[in-house]
Amino acid sequence: MSQHNAHTKKTYTLATGDKMPAIGLGTWQSSPGQVGEAVKAAIGAGYRYIDTALAYGNEAEVGEGVKAAGVPREQLWITTKLDNPWHKRVAEGIDTSLKNLGMDYVDLYLMHWPCSTDPDDLKKHYPDWNFIDTWREMQKLVGTGKVRNIGVSNFDIVNLEKLLNDPSCKIKPAVNQIELHPNNPSKKLVTYCGEKGIHCTGYSCLGSTDSPLYKDATLLKLAEAKGKTPQQCLLQWGIQKGWDVIPKSVTASRIEANFDLDGWWLTDEEVDQLDNLKDRFKVCGDDWLPIKVFHEGAIE
Ligand SMILES: NC(=O)c1ccc[n+]([C@@H]2O[C@H](COP(=O)([O-])OP(=O)(O)OC[C@H]3O[C@@H](n4cnc5c(N)ncnc54)[C@H](OP(=O)(O)O)[C@@H]3O)[C@@H](O)[C@H]2O)c1
Repeated sequence: MSQHNAHTKKTYTLATGDKMPAIGLGTWQSSPGQVGEAVKAAIGAGYRYIDTALAYGNEAEVGEGVKAAGVPREQLWITTKLDNPWHKRVAEGIDTSLKNLGMDYVDLYLMHWPCSTDPDDLKKHYPDWNFIDTWREMQKLVGTGKVRNIGVSNFDIVNLEKLLNDPSCKIKPAVNQIELHPNNPSKKLVTYCGEKGIHCTGYSCLGSTDSPLYKDATLLKLAEAKGKTPQQCLLQWGIQKGWDVIPKSVTASRIEANFDLDGWWLTDEEVDQLDNLKDRFKVCGDDWLPIKVFHEGAIE
């Protein structure tokens, strides 16, 4: 099999030179009691990348799953994220995540949202602090050995411009983790990130829980004709578009099937078909946050 077809071995080279795997296991809504087994099953199936977050409340069990899988730490890519109410406590945030995970470092530490929520009132944004202050603190982590790369998540073009143009921004985010599936393709944002040398990770890459994409006639027809599942086609689409994908599952058979991506690919025409699906939906909006973070037209 040529390297071109070995999607599960594929990596993307970040601006820092580090190589990030093309497929990882997502763990949002993977409950304690399930997530450790899921992580172990994924690593057993060949995954070498796990995505978690302080906000998911499952870092400790993710860490246990990693240990139980028995693969040396240096062969794994672990991403975790700074939670919104921790923006004024970045150093404490990474230490807490590392302690939870039982690890000395993470490969990628992301600012989960560009929103500095007051921990004493989750409906309030700090009046005297914003994501630029948070990024200034995150930059200090580089060189401590606790993080190999730093990045952001849920940043649209407006907020990326604010961050990149601020004189305090000395280190460019290596990654922007954003919602990416054919019904939320974010073409302008992906192009913008590419121009700035910021790699994208695609979250909710299957369309998340009860995905409306599974009813899409074009996708179902395409998958049937290829003899693949709609989920495999969605993952292959993302990888071929140039971002890494992090499908979440706590079901061993699905974890395995989602990693069965080698030896086949989508033709340019099939990629075009998925590029041109008409429906639109967004899994993760900003209604639940104290401030708006997605600006009109800055994602499409
Ligand atoms: N940065 C952020 O703000 C952010 C936001 C959202 C997500 N994320 C990350 O991205 C990851 C993925 O996104 P997501 O969790 O929203 O959704 P997703 O991965 O798009 O979809 C997960 C859903 O699909 C189901 N599923 C997985 N494989 C399947 C298969 N082969 N056949 C049928 N159903 C399947 C899962 O069910 P079972 O688990 O029951 O098998 C689960 O209900 C998250 O877990 C998290 O790590 C990050």
